[in-house]
Amino acid sequence: MNQDQLKQLVAQAAADYVAAHAPAGCVLGVGTGSTANLFIDALAPIKSRFVGAVSSSEASSRRLESIGIPVLDLNTVSEIPIYVDGADEVDGGLHAIKGGGAALTREKIVAAVAREFVCIADASKKVPVLGKFPLPVEVIPMAREQVARALRALGGEPRWREGVITDNGNVILDVHGLAIVDPVALESEIDHITGVVTSGLFARRRVDLLLIGGPDGVERLSRT
Ligand code: A5P
Repeated sequence: MNQDQLKQLVAQAAADYVAAHAPAGCVLGVGTGSTANLFIDALAPIKSRFVGAVSSSEASSRRLESIGIPVLDLNTVSEIPIYVDGADEVDGGLHAIKGGGAALTREKIVAAVAREFVCIADASKKVPVLGKFPLPVEVIPMAREQVARALRALGGEPRWREGVITDNGNVILDVHGLAIVDPVALESEIDHITGVVTSGLFARRRVDLLLIGGPDGVERLSRT
């Protein structure tokens, strides 16, 4: 199976999971990216189970609406039983790097509200130590250089993702060269840099259930 087929496999597994575990009439949290897109497509046959979805990006909102799932403003929603999203890297402790698609801040907000964060990924995303994938950091535009200096002081090599403006009107710095052995500590350090909106490290709020698609099928890893 190629990578796209593995993404399809986990997307369908996640749709089956929400069909079995999400309470009828609930609001679903839906993420962003190519794997999340396949998950949205797989929701079409079960869409009547949900009153709507909270989405982590304008792109996912459009895709949800195109299959007839209403997109709700998070401010009108108090409970999200399950949030399903992809990741760029996930380690054995179920900490993740996200934000390759620049939607990290909204993803973090939806994940914070959700009772369960189900992450879907092909096997290439599972790593022993996070950091080979450059860590995305969303930054207020006027603070870009100041934040870049602070990230260099932490040992990273930030590169501005030129031409990309997030759904929130900010810019992204991708931090190369990090070996993230303590994701919780690094997330806190980066979030405290003035001018940072958030980092793509999902460590304090990590994944609850990881569905990994590999050649032998879908493997499930849960938080212990
Ligand atoms: C979006 O900002 C990201 O967090 C995505 O969830 C992540 O980049 C995974 O994307 P793919 O499913 O396209 O690999």
